[in-house]
Amino acid sequence: MRAFTVLLAMLQLVLLLSLVSPATSCTQQEKHALLQFLTGMSGHSALAASWRHETDCCEWEGIICNEHGAITEVSLASRGLEGSISPCLCRPHQHAAGLPMELMSSGSIIVLDISFNRLNGLLPEVPYLFTTERPLQVLNVSSNQFSSEFPSATWKVMKNLIALNASNNSFTGHMPSSLCIGSPSLALLDLCHNQLSGNIPNTLGNCSKLKVLKAGNNHLSGILPVEIFHATSLEYLSFPNNGLQGELDGAHMVKLSNLATLDLGGNQISGNIPVNIDHFKRLEELHLGSNNMSGELPSSLGNCTNLKTIDLKINNFSGGKGKLLRPAESKKFRSQEE
Ligand SMILES: *[C@@H]1O[C@H](CO)[C@@H](O)[C@H](O)[C@H]1NC(C)=O
Ligand SMILES: *[C@@H]1O[C@H](CO)[C@@H](O)[C@H](O)[C@H]1NC(C)=O
Ligand SMILES: *[C@@H]1O[C@H](CO)[C@@H](O)[C@H](O)[C@H]1NC(C)=O
Ligand SMILES: *[C@@H]1O[C@H](CO)[C@@H](O)[C@H](O)[C@H]1NC(C)=O
Ligand SMILES: *[C@@H]1O[C@H](CO)[C@@H](O)[C@H](O)[C@H]1NC(C)=O
Ligand SMILES: *[C@@H]1O[C@H](CO)[C@@H](O)[C@H](O)[C@H]1NC(C)=O
Ligand SMILES: *[C@@H]1O[C@H](CO)[C@@H](O)[C@H](O)[C@H]1NC(C)=O
Repeated sequence: MRAFTVLLAMLQLVLLLSLVSPATSCTQQEKHALLQFLTGMSGHSALAASWRHETDCCEWEGIICNEHGAITEVSLASRGLEGSISPCLCRPHQHAAGLPMELMSSGSIIVLDISFNRLNGLLPEVPYLFTTERPLQVLNVSSNQFSSEFPSATWKVMKNLIALNASNNSFTGHMPSSLCIGSPSLALLDLCHNQLSGNIPNTLGNCSKLKVLKAGNNHLSGILPVEIFHATSLEYLSFPNNGLQGELDGAHMVKLSNLATLDLGGNQISGNIPVNIDHFKRLEELHLGSNNMSGELPSSLGNCTNLKTIDLKINNFSGGKGKLLRPAESKKFRSQEE
């Protein structure tokens, strides 16, 4: 009975201490997740000196907390972090030095930047169990060595996501179709230089806030879905060096009135350059080189007054370009005859 009383007193003391402890101290769960993340890696000696278990993780290098002590930012770009998958085969998913689920699905983290490291392993598939919206706005995992399948369902709970950069890895799988359905605020999506395959999902048309879409240097196939032209905020649309086919649908394409860069070079696109190309009033860069396009170059190209770069080389165009383009344009114009 006395032992119980002592235990009770101790519990009360612990409770009291936790109440008076400074407001800025991160939760045990988040601290554990960060330490687990660090443990799976080598090349982290500089971080390990700062990330000590006995200290408040709000004070750790690369970690920013809000006034309530919740982590809001994890900024670990270019830290020389190197993830190696543990040889333990027992629970391979837990041991892969990817991103712990707790960080991806955190209830407080707004910015998660682990770009320019040598991390591999998994980007976790956050289960749809989380009915509450995740606050994550910026996820930058670019320029690492991730070679796992790109998550597909995770984005359904990322209601606040604004920027997703996963470029320059070796992610496999498809471009997720849940992206803008789940994250309607998405403004920047960069998936270029990966191993993604399959079609471009037509749900990208629901990305009403999307300004930058880059998915070049993958193995994407099929056509540029017509729905994508509903994403009228697009300023930068870039799918070079994939296996895209079909023709450019001028009638629908011109809905992208904010477009400044269109890069579809290095695909198998056929057909003509749409005559109404001059409806892209803001177009500055047009890359259609190394495709299977044909026909005459429309004279309306000469009316794209903001065009600075135009690359049409290695196609099968016919017609006298000198006649069609004003001298200023024809100087910039590079054709297959070059
Ligand atoms: C990572 O991407 C985000 C969103 O595009 C950007 O704000 C941030 O500067 C990037 N980090 C680095 C180190 O470039
Ligand atoms: C994504 O990150 C890479 C570096 O990893 C950078 O070069 C690229 O510009 C970023 N993409 C966008 C759209 O900002
Ligand atoms: C791609 O990643 C490698 C390795 O992290 C890096 O050296 C290179 O600068 C990155 N390329 C771009 C375009 O960001
Ligand atoms: C996506 O856009 C299509 C029209 O392009 C629309 O019919 C559909 O309801 C949208 N879906 C969502 C979930 O917003
Ligand atoms: C190239 O275009 C021509 C017609 O313009 C078409 O007959 C041919 O199938 C196309 N080739 C490929 C590989 O798409
Ligand atoms: C260029 O624009 C002017 C003014 O809108 C128009 O009169 C002319 O026909 C256009 N030229 C071509 C080749 O589309
Ligand atoms: C280029 O077009 C011409 C006729 O328009 C056609 O005879 C020829 O096969 C085409 N070449 C290629 C490589 O598609």
